[in-house]
Amino acid sequence: MSDFEQHIKRYLDSQKNCLITDAMAYALDGGKRFRPRVIFSILKGFRIEEEKGYDSALALEMIQTYSLIHDDLPAMDNDDMRRGKPSLHKAFREDIAILAGDQLLTDSFRVVADSKSYHPETKISIISALSSYAGMAGMIYGQLLDVTTDSSSIDKEKLFEIQDNKTGGLFKIACLIPMYIAGIDRKDYFTRLGSMIGEIFQNQDDLFDLIKTEEEMGKNLSDAKNDKGTALSVYSLEELRKLIDDEFEELNEYLKDAVFDTRYLMELLNILKER
Ligand code: IPE
Ligand code: IPE
Ligand code: MG
Ligand code: MG
Ligand code: MG
Repeated sequence: MSDFEQHIKRYLDSQKNCLITDAMAYALDGGKRFRPRVIFSILKGFRIEEEKGYDSALALEMIQTYSLIHDDLPAMDNDDMRRGKPSLHKAFREDIAILAGDQLLTDSFRVVADSKSYHPETKISIISALSSYAGMAGMIYGQLLDVTTDSSSIDKEKLFEIQDNKTGGLFKIACLIPMYIAGIDRKDYFTRLGSMIGEIFQNQDDLFDLIKTEEEMGKNLSDAKNDKGTALSVYSLEELRKLIDDEFEELNEYLKDAVFDTRYLMELLNILKER
C-alpha cells in the first residue's frame, strides 16, 4: 500500500465505528487518485515533499468520492458499478450512500482545518478553493448543467461549460493546493492549468464511454443510455481523438511558462495520455 493509501486508512481508522464509516471506506477504495497525484507532482516541482500535500489531497479525494457516490444514484446517472465493484447505493443502501457522501464532503473541510501541515492562512485558502470549485464555481454547477442538458440541446460552447465546471472544478483545486502550500500567488496560471487538465480528462472519459468496456473502466458506461450531452454529441470519434491530442500539445506549450519544475507533472500527464 502506498504512503498516501496508508494516510487514507489512518483517517478512516480514526473515525467513529459505524455504518457510515464502513460505507466511506468502501467508496474511497479503488480510485485512481489522479487528483492527489496532480497535487504531489506539482509539489515535487516546487521541491516540497509530497507528504506535505497528504491532508489536502485526502480532502480533495473525499470530495471526489462523494461526487461519484451521488453521481451514481438512481436520481442522477443511475449506475450500479463504480471503482470496479457495485456502487455504494447497491452495496449498502441508497439512504446510507447519500449520508456517506454528505459526511465525506462535510468532513473534508475539517480534515484541512485540523491539519498540522499548514499555516492558518494556507488552510483558509485551501478550504476556500475546495468550497468554491467543488461548489457553484465548479463541480455542483457543472453537475446541474449535466443533468439539465441532453444530447440534442448541447453545442460546443455548452459542452465546454459543463466539462470545465463538473470536472475542471476539482482539477483547479488540485493545481491551486500546491500553489498555496508553496506560498506562491499565481492564481490565474494554476486555475487555467487545472482547467486544461480537467478538459482533457473529461474528453477522454466521454470518449471511453464509447470505446472501452465496463470491465476496463470499472464502472457502467451509461452516457448513451441516459442520452447525455457529452463530447460525442458534438464531435465525431475522429474529431474527438484529434481534439484531445491538440489539447495535450496546448498543455505542453502552457507548461513552458510554469514557475515550478514541470518534469513530474509531465510524467503524470504522459500516464494520462497513454491510458
Ligand atoms: C471519474 O473520475 C469522474 C470524472 C470526472 C470522469 P476518475 O476517472 O478520476 O475516477 P476515480 O476517482 O479514479 O474512480
Ligand atoms: C461525472 O461525470 C463527473 C462528476 C462531477 C462526478 P460522469 O458522470 O461522466 O462521470 P462517470 O463517467 O460516471 O465517472
Ligand atoms: Mg454524471
Ligand atoms: Mg456518471
Ligand atoms: Mg463519464
